Amino acid sequence: MKKFTSVYDVDDPASLVAEALALKKTPFANQALGRNKTVILVFFNPSLRTRLSTELAAKNLGCNVMTLNVADGWKLEFADGTVMNGGTAEHIREAAGVMSQYADILAVRSFPGLEDKDKDYADEVMNAFVKYASVPVVSLESAIRHPLQSLADWVTIEEYKKQIRPKVVLTWAPHPRALPQAVSNSFLEWMQAAPVDLVLTHPEGYELDPAFVKNTPVAYSQKEAFAGADFVYAKNWSPLTPYGKPQPVAENWQVTKEKMDMTDNGYFMHCLPVRRNVVVSDAVLDSSQSLVLPQAGNRLYAAQAVLQRLLGGVD
Ligand code: CP
Repeated sequence: MKKFTSVYDVDDPASLVAEALALKKTPFANQALGRNKTVILVFFNPSLRTRLSTELAAKNLGCNVMTLNVADGWKLEFADGTVMNGGTAEHIREAAGVMSQYADILAVRSFPGLEDKDKDYADEVMNAFVKYASVPVVSLESAIRHPLQSLADWVTIEEYKKQIRPKVVLTWAPHPRALPQAVSNSFLEWMQAAPVDLVLTHPEGYELDPAFVKNTPVAYSQKEAFAGADFVYAKNWSPLTPYGKPQPVAENWQVTKEKMDMTDNGYFMHCLPVRRNVVVSDAVLDSSQSLVLPQAGNRLYAAQAVLQRLLGGVD
C-alpha cells in the first residue's frame, strides 16, 4: 500500500479489517516497526478521535509523532503558476516537500468549504499532499472521504455481526449545521466492498453523489429501510443541490427507540461527535444497542493497521 486516501488504495480491505482485529489483541507486538520512524499529523480542522487515535496508533508501533494544527494561521497556496503576492505565504510544493524531509508518513485532515461542489470534490488539499509529498500520505478525513472512520466502522460491524451477511442501513439524520458528505461517501465505498447488504435512506433532495452511491439501493422511507436492519448508521450531510445549503425536511428523521424497534434488534452506529436528541435520542444512544464507543475505540486499531502496512509491516 502506497497511500491511504480511500478504499481503492487497499488491495484487500477485508484483510486490513482482519489486521486491525488482530492488533486489538496484541497492540504492542510490532513496536520495533516504527523505531526511528516519524509520523507527522497535519490538521487544517479540529479533531478529537482522529487525532488521539492516530497519535496513539503511531506510538503503539514505536513511531515518533508530531502534530501540526494549522487551522487559521498557515495560508497555503495550491494553484500552480500563481504570483504569490497576496495572502498565501507558502506553496504546497515546498510545504509537503519540507514535511517529507522530517516524516516517514504524512497524515492530513482538511474539510470542504461547502461553497463550490466541483472544488470540494476535486479534493484539492489531499491530492496536493499526495502529489508533492515524497512519503506515503494518510487521509485523516478529506473534503469528500473519511476512510479511517469507515475502516473502524467495518471492524466494528465485523465484531458485532450476528449473521454472515448483515443488513446495514446508512440513514440521513437532522443536524443544525451544514455538514460535509465525507463520512457518508466513505461509508458507502467501504460497505460496498464488505460482505453486507447495504441500504441508503434519506429525504428527497439529500441524494449523495452517484459516483459514491453506485448500485446501493436507496429508500426514501426511513421506516421501510430500518425493517430487519442489523446495523443502523446515522449521519447528517448537507445537500449537493443547492450545494451545502440544508433544506427543510417535512418528517422527523431523528433515530428514535420506536424506529430502532423496527430493526432486527439492530445496533446503532455514529462516527461522533453526535448531537443528542437531534440526530439520535438519548434512549438509543444510551442503550445497549449503541456501538458509538466501541466504534471510537476501533479507530485506534484501524489507524494502527494502516500505519503498520505503510511502514512495511504487512504487504
Ligand atoms: N469521527 C471523527 O472523525 O471524529 P473527530 O472529528 O473528533 O476526529
